[in-house]
Amino acid sequence: MKTPLSSTTITFIIIIIISTTISPPQPVTSLGSSSTIAISYSSNSATTVCGIIAGASTKRIQCYKQGQIVSIQPNLSYESISGGHGFFCGLRSGGFSLLCWNTTNFHVKRIYYSSTHRLTNLTVGNSQICATQANSGVAFCWRFVSPEVAWNFLTITSGGGFSCGILEKNNAMRCWGGSEIENVIQTQFGNATMLSLVAGESHACGVTKNGTLICKGRNVAGQLDVPPHSAFDFSTLALGANHSCAVKRKNGLVVCWGGKPERSGFDSGVMNNESFESIVAGLDFTCGLTTKNLSVICWGQDGPVG
Ligand SMILES: *[C@@H]1O[C@H](CO)[C@@H](O)[C@H](O)[C@H]1NC(C)=O
Ligand SMILES: *[C@@H]1O[C@H](CO)[C@@H](O)[C@H](O)[C@H]1NC(C)=O
Ligand SMILES: *[C@@H]1O[C@H](CO)[C@@H](O)[C@H](O)[C@H]1NC(C)=O
Ligand SMILES: *[C@@H]1O[C@H](CO)[C@@H](O)[C@H](O)[C@H]1NC(C)=O
Ligand SMILES: *[C@@H]1O[C@H](CO)[C@@H](O)[C@H](O)[C@H]1NC(C)=O
Ligand SMILES: *[C@@H]1O[C@H](CO)[C@@H](O)[C@H](O)[C@H]1NC(C)=O
Ligand SMILES: *[C@@H]1O[C@H](CO)[C@@H](O)[C@H](O)[C@H]1NC(C)=O
Ligand SMILES: *[C@@H]1O[C@H](CO)[C@@H](O)[C@H](O)[C@H]1NC(C)=O
Repeated sequence: MKTPLSSTTITFIIIIIISTTISPPQPVTSLGSSSTIAISYSSNSATTVCGIIAGASTKRIQCYKQGQIVSIQPNLSYESISGGHGFFCGLRSGGFSLLCWNTTNFHVKRIYYSSTHRLTNLTVGNSQICATQANSGVAFCWRFVSPEVAWNFLTITSGGGFSCGILEKNNAMRCWGGSEIENVIQTQFGNATMLSLVAGESHACGVTKNGTLICKGRNVAGQLDVPPHSAFDFSTLALGANHSCAVKRKNGLVVCWGGKPERSGFDSGVMNNESFESIVAGLDFTCGLTTKNLSVICWGQDGPVG
């Protein structure tokens, strides 16, 4: 596992106003899934939260690091972003170009360009970057192994040293990457028919065809202990190292479970009154885009964090 986020970097409340007009959120976001907000975590450079601003004609990226606003260059339109350990990546609108930024110095690298093959489903794990080809669903990864080209995916997600996806042909989940936990997760999901899937550091959760939310993998802190629910209660999911969060479809409220084993859990009284459009997780905290005013609020084990 990579260096966890130091809790000393999280000492104040951050309430970040990204914009009053953020792009419509993607259905599923996390440590490693496509979104319009992303978290990059690191031991030596502070946590960075980035968002796509959709107010103007240019849907540019803006980040927040140590209370500072950083405008990301190149100032172009992006359709999704996803964050990892010390960096984040953005897919340019249209899907023909993929750029990644180091969150220490915000230097940019273009890692993909094509005039013919669009990418979608950008998902960054701890260090791997994966995306699918829009027309075929074939997944490609950078700084990581790519899965078999015979696998066509509906969606993919990236966790700590593994990535998984839902196969187009039968909605079964398949993982790749070669980590030990990946085999555990894959085996535990078995032949479940999946509609959505999100990976955390060493677990994954998803909604099955019958509407049940299931979580599989490592359970050191209760991150697999999904609270009782009815079919299709949950929409967006966000998974960190030892916790899981889900947005309730009917009212946008967030439910979290897991956290440190010695504590009562990650379930946050803090967010009890707030409705969210989408949520995304860092290793030990979660951020959400509020329905009320589209600002980003982050919270952890013990309440709001920044
Ligand atoms: C997750 O839990 C494990 C086992 O208790 C612990 O070693 C690790 O530091 C935790 N990770 C985070 C980010 O809290
Ligand atoms: C980005 O570009 C748009 C138009 O292309 C311009 O209006 C805007 O001011 C630029 N923003 C930054 C931060 O450079
Ligand atoms: C980002 O840049 C810093 C400073 O140059 C370097 O130490 C670090 O390894 C880079 N991080 C990534 C994820 O490339
Ligand atoms: C993933 O790709 C499929 C089609 O290839 C698309 O319908 C879906 O919206 C994409 N999801 C995300 C989160 O980008
Ligand atoms: C999954 O399906 C295959 C073939 O349909 C079957 O052989 C296998 O036992 C099933 N696995 C589980 C865990 O149900
Ligand atoms: C729905 O599917 C899950 C996983 O396949 C299973 O555990 C659960 O019992 C099913 N629920 C219903 C109501 O059929
Ligand atoms: C939730 O709302 C109730 C009533 O408006 C208020 O008393 C309570 O303090 C709020 N809780 C939080 C955590 O904001
Ligand atoms: C947006 O909502 C948050 C949470 O309710 C609040 O703290 C913040 O002041 C609001 N910001 C604006 C600009 O209304």
